[in-house]
Amino acid sequence: MVRRKGTASLLLAGAAALAALAAFAAPPNRQGDVGADRERGREVYMKWCAGCHGDEGRGDGPAAEHLLPKPRDFTMALYQVRSTATGQLPLDEDILRVVNEGMPGSSMPGWKAVLSGAERAAVVRYLKTLSPDFAPATAPPAALSFGSAPRGGDAAALEGRDLYRRIECWKCHGDSGRGDGTSAPTLKDDLGNPIRAADLTQNWTFNGGGTAPDIYRVLRTGMDGTPMPSFGDLIEGRIITDEQLWRVAQYVRSLSPAEPPRARDVVRAARVEAGLPSGPDDSAWASVERYYYPLVGQVIVRPRWFAPMVSGLWVQALHDGRALALRVTWHDPSQSPDSSWNVWRARVAARMGADDSAAADSTPLPDRLAVQFPARLPAGLDRPYFLMGSVEEPVYLWSWESEPRSAVEATARGADRLEPLAGLTDSVATSSTYDHGEWRVQFTRALSTGDSTNQLEFVTGRPIPMAFYAWDGSNGETGARMAVGSWSAVYLAEPARASTYLSPAFAMLATAGLGLTVIWRAQRHRRKTTDDGTDIGTSEAE
Ligand code: HEC
Ligand code: HEC
Repeated sequence: MVRRKGTASLLLAGAAALAALAAFAAPPNRQGDVGADRERGREVYMKWCAGCHGDEGRGDGPAAEHLLPKPRDFTMALYQVRSTATGQLPLDEDILRVVNEGMPGSSMPGWKAVLSGAERAAVVRYLKTLSPDFAPATAPPAALSFGSAPRGGDAAALEGRDLYRRIECWKCHGDSGRGDGTSAPTLKDDLGNPIRAADLTQNWTFNGGGTAPDIYRVLRTGMDGTPMPSFGDLIEGRIITDEQLWRVAQYVRSLSPAEPPRARDVVRAARVEAGLPSGPDDSAWASVERYYYPLVGQVIVRPRWFAPMVSGLWVQALHDGRALALRVTWHDPSQSPDSSWNVWRARVAARMGADDSAAADSTPLPDRLAVQFPARLPAGLDRPYFLMGSVEEPVYLWSWESEPRSAVEATARGADRLEPLAGLTDSVATSSTYDHGEWRVQFTRALSTGDSTNQLEFVTGRPIPMAFYAWDGSNGETGARMAVGSWSAVYLAEPARASTYLSPAFAMLATAGLGLTVIWRAQRHRRKTTDDGTDIGTSEAE
């Protein structure tokens, strides 16, 4: 029932613009001014944009072969983020908005802090000269009127959820919105590039912004050039009301946390006396604090990987004085290996640089997750090289995979030098669940194993460096083609002494480990980033 009308009506819009060109209206400036203005915009463009978008604006700059989604081809005049109906050109304000804010969830950066207002305005005018569709037209594109969000309580939220099912958002975005719908592996944009159905639980990755009005706008306009349709015709056809479309937007907004998550340096493992959770779905985890850990493509050693599927993990930890339990959850739209994703994997391999996709064939690949610690507790704040250690300073890994469902311990002395530790049976136990686009894995290991030559001994009362890697087999990820993060740490709380009861708040402060500076830095980061709401904190490679 969901129709795509983007392309056909776009052709019509293009024809209309050409007709307008034929009936050429008086240009706003004298020829000379127009030429000088275009030259100013071109200078900005060649310096800052051409590396990705290409010298002629065809989306084919030197970086483009590594990127997914691909940089926009401006000669096609296809714009995703608009306030105009599907198939229409964007307003200047629409283009300016993307230039200012960037497109979260893609490599398109925001330029507010880099370019002056005059430079940004000039480059917007320049982009329009790259397509004949924008020739001075008598009628500029008309903005749709969006109204404002209706109020609503629980009943309204339920209606939104019901509509999400009825108008079949789930086909692409999945029942829980994690981008794992049945159509997800088959989606491609108008140029044949594979395109992900957005993970609706991560609104900070939405191209056009994550607020309910931003989402409503996208539902009205569609994202031209992609499979994301416009639902405006459902209102015109009186299949749903405008208010109901707002309810869908409000429901989608409710799938993400109130604030985008911030990366923090230290995961705190509280000490429990009543025993550790038995698996990742044990209800005991519900009351344990979750820490967000961002991941980025591995681009340091070859083969590099610019299009990782997993963009972050949630980490929780507990210990009972004898063992440590770590629960890691992350979103991955496929439970690999899954042959229904072969078409996706082949498309990704075909669209990425030859170097990036060297290992891409159809060998079934599992999903993987690795947790990394230093092989030995370092003195002070020293840490091995973050990318799987080095010969001098190796790292100790827990490496879990989805098929066969198992985990091994390993030592690594660099990204290509990983050796499983033989003869250790069940030293690290794992239990895992895949549920509607989400993996949940619990790792459990004794704090001390008696084999301190190979295995890290966990101690309480000091931060222990910890890092993560993730692979999505259905995205062709294996070996160095993975998502990586920088060092964080896990801090195992000391037992509370019977005589000195610590209030939970005080215990948090006292055990921050790296000192108050950690908390202070995190808070400062938060303050710095809430203004625009888009910065989720980055992981810096070191
Ligand atoms: C690092 C690569 C990179 C650079 C540099 C870059 N872009 Fe982009 N840009 C992209 C990508 C990738 C997309 C498409 C994202 C998507 O489709 O989700 C894009 C999309 C766009 C769009 C399309 C917006 C829409 O609504 O569809 C505009 C406009 C744009 N870029 C303008 C610029 C301008 C102007 C500059 C220079 C000031 C620039 N870009 C520099 C990567 C880049
Ligand atoms: C035919 C598949 C398909 C259907 C049906 C579909 N979507 Fe999408 N949707 C997509 C794709 C693909 C993208 C990603 C586009 C991109 O990244 O450029 C997307 C993106 C989005 C986004 C992110 C917008 C942004 O700014 O990046 C939201 C929100 C969204 N869809 C909501 C919905 C809702 C709600 C419905 C049902 C009313 C729906 N979608 C139906 C394919 C679909």
